[in-house]
Amino acid sequence: MSKKLFIKTWGCQMNVYDSARMADVLAPLGYRPVDEPDGADMVILNTCHIREKAAEKVFSELGRLRILKDEKAAAAGGTAADSSGDGRMILAVAGCVAQAEGEEIVARAPFVDMVFGPQTYHTLPEMVAKATRAAGSVLNTDFPAESKFDFLPEEAVSQGAAAFLAVQEGCDKFCTFCVVPYTRGAEFSRPAAQILLEAKRLAAGGTREISLLGQNVNAWHGDGPDGSTWGLGRLIRELAEIDGVERIRYTTSHPRDMDEELIRAHAEVPQLMPYLHLPVQSGSDRILAAMNRKHSADDYRRLVDRLKTVNPDLALSGDFIVGFPGESDADFAATLKLVSDVGYAQAYCFKYSPRPGTPAALEDRQVPEPVKEERLAALQQLIGAQQVAFNHGFVGRTMKVLFDRVGRRDGQLLGRSPWMQSVHAEANERLLGRIVEVRIVEARPSSLTGVVVTGEHSTTAHSQPAHSLEASA
Ligand code: SAH
Ligand code: SF4
Ligand code: F3S
Repeated sequence: MSKKLFIKTWGCQMNVYDSARMADVLAPLGYRPVDEPDGADMVILNTCHIREKAAEKVFSELGRLRILKDEKAAAAGGTAADSSGDGRMILAVAGCVAQAEGEEIVARAPFVDMVFGPQTYHTLPEMVAKATRAAGSVLNTDFPAESKFDFLPEEAVSQGAAAFLAVQEGCDKFCTFCVVPYTRGAEFSRPAAQILLEAKRLAAGGTREISLLGQNVNAWHGDGPDGSTWGLGRLIRELAEIDGVERIRYTTSHPRDMDEELIRAHAEVPQLMPYLHLPVQSGSDRILAAMNRKHSADDYRRLVDRLKTVNPDLALSGDFIVGFPGESDADFAATLKLVSDVGYAQAYCFKYSPRPGTPAALEDRQVPEPVKEERLAALQQLIGAQQVAFNHGFVGRTMKVLFDRVGRRDGQLLGRSPWMQSVHAEANERLLGRIVEVRIVEARPSSLTGVVVTGEHSTTAHSQPAHSLEASA
């Protein structure tokens, strides 16, 4: 009998990917994903620990779910404590909060049945069996010796036109603000052969765009069939050879791991999209050193120059932290200067959030909240203006768009540009999953509107261009 599985996901793309993998592991046990937690047989909260209040959000969500769990048990005529039967809602916390605060979750929320970290997802069937047999919570926050990737089932065949593929996980960089090295563990690269095989399966299932994922994706390395060591640049070249793989991206990169081969791939591999998420965090050398980033602001500027020299179309996105302990007005001004020099298509800005167990949290020169707020607003304003200018630069130009979703309006498809912009256009559903030339007619801060211009256009788009403009407004 089919059982209902509800997964709620917070955090990065790796967590989104992990949620899909958990659903794949649970499918043979009869679990099918549903969109609502009400009445579900299993609810998994896949949590993120990167910034403040993460744990609190989880506890308040658990409070709501406990009610649903009790209701389900009552409806089946039992109590939530019954360990088996139709009335049971198995409640689970996974992800980075589970890894960091597993014991606290078990202590504070004993009605939770399973608490497990990111490296244990392949053992879900055993954990479920254990949780079903016994009362009390199953806690699993080990870093097992084996790699989960050797045990996880193959991805469900069709992942859609644009799919994620995890190639690397974990981090050895230990930036002084960050919990990821603790929650995800040491850097690990999946074997090249395994990645290539998975990419072939994705392409055969209709995927046209593959985003390679890793906490430090460009630290990926592996053995090629000839015994030589490959870096990410070489892996990308090999992936580009696979029939049907028309677009490749990778995220998230660390500036220190951008080697020459990877940089050259941006010039030489047409499938590699001209858009790179390359976080720098700060423009001040003093702060970069305190963050343990191990490069200067000028190192980053030179790297960006080199990338834009090999590929003038390349656009950048980034991550910034304002209000890191000890950040002065001058340090912050250096960040604004770096942003002005580099010019971003998009960027994420965060207020520094002290994380338990990280060195920077122990610093006594914490920046007051109002100062953080002010700096955040100033940085967002600058980056917002750059984003608007970037998007406006495309009006009147044509670009290749991969249509990967239907739009909210009838006859409208949504796609993504080479630069990760969302593009709306009136287009026939036949174009779903295909890459099509689109002329951009309007730009908004975070999306573009266009008209299909190549052979396979829909009649609507052609006969009513004015309508398409208006309808997408
Ligand atoms: N591995 C990636 C990013 C990981 S976390 C990298 O090295 O860039 C994503 C982003 O969250 C980081 O780039 C950083 O900008 C932000 N971040 C991480 N820890 C933070 C903290 N304690 N406070 C505020 N922002 C943080
Ligand atoms: Fe965190 Fe730094 Fe590792 Fe990125 S490189 S995951 S910011 S420790
Ligand atoms: Fe969050 Fe863990 Fe990703 S802390 S950002 S879910 S690696």
